[in-house]
Amino acid sequence: MRQLPTVKPRVLITKRIYPEAVEFLRRHCEVDYEETDDGLTAAQLRERLRGKQAVVSQLTDRFSAEVIENLEGIRVIANVAVGFDNVDVPAATKAGILVTNTPDVLTDTTADLAFALLLATARRVVEADHYLRDGKWKKWSIDLLVGQDVHHRTLGIVGLGRIGQAVARRGRGFSMKVLYSDAVRARREIEQELEASWVPLDRLLRESDFVSLHVPLSDATRRLIGRDELRLMKPTAVLVNTSRGPVVDEAALAEALRQNVIAGAGLDVFEQEPRVHPSLLSLPQVVLTPHIGSASVHTRRSMSMMAVENAVAALEGNRPPNLVNPGLWDQLESRKEA
Ligand code: DGY
Repeated sequence: MRQLPTVKPRVLITKRIYPEAVEFLRRHCEVDYEETDDGLTAAQLRERLRGKQAVVSQLTDRFSAEVIENLEGIRVIANVAVGFDNVDVPAATKAGILVTNTPDVLTDTTADLAFALLLATARRVVEADHYLRDGKWKKWSIDLLVGQDVHHRTLGIVGLGRIGQAVARRGRGFSMKVLYSDAVRARREIEQELEASWVPLDRLLRESDFVSLHVPLSDATRRLIGRDELRLMKPTAVLVNTSRGPVVDEAALAEALRQNVIAGAGLDVFEQEPRVHPSLLSLPQVVLTPHIGSASVHTRRSMSMMAVENAVAALEGNRPPNLVNPGLWDQLESRKEA
């Protein structure tokens, strides 16, 4: 008997990812690969998604309700990121589209960067590097580039999820006192392991020497830190943000730094990436990095692999390991059984 050719599912990759992930996907699917770092405009995205069953997306791809409502035949949006604020998940769920992310693999890598920003800001590492390279170092002096101690100070973690916990662990390694604030209080074992105390946000802001943000972006966390919150902080305090830019009112932060309301900031994320509020660029007490929280070779490779594995699982009718709308999966399964 003649064997019918099997039709492979068709998948769009919207931007460059690690090659082994593309190879893996090619073994299972017919791949339309946008092999650039530019990504696609909304119109291009709509066009290229025609006739596809899956998309491997990145945080710069906006899947608004409007975009999602116009998709036909897409079964899964596999985001190469732990955050999925670029996807309107309720709209995807309504449209029967599974959404996946890449948790865990980037937890420690992102926590490392948060701590690097904290240390760099406190100890003026970037400023010192520029000072030396600019040929300004003529003699050693008692208060040359003096900064702040990190050890034994108070670390305030806003959002004690996986990354927040990993930052708390690093803080404990520096003998810091750890406070945290979160809508949901952590389990007692976690509080005990991290020696972390839950406090309301206003108290955390008043008492912490370093405040590190680790909340996902949502309506509840947009501009969580604005003018009023910054005014609660100590004048010696440092704010670190490796979560999402819009969690902080960037103009209010720039103003607070200019007026020495707080002492410094270490920022990896911004409200309008890749744009940065111009005032921040000229302030020496601010350390800035271009959204590189998860940017180690190993982690970015793992994220790429994880995303394509999620996509292939969904296309093969298996539950993707990192579903962010698991309720939809249950619904789809119960429909099959009925
Ligand atoms: C994420 O995974 O959400 C990061 O912001 C990008 O690595």
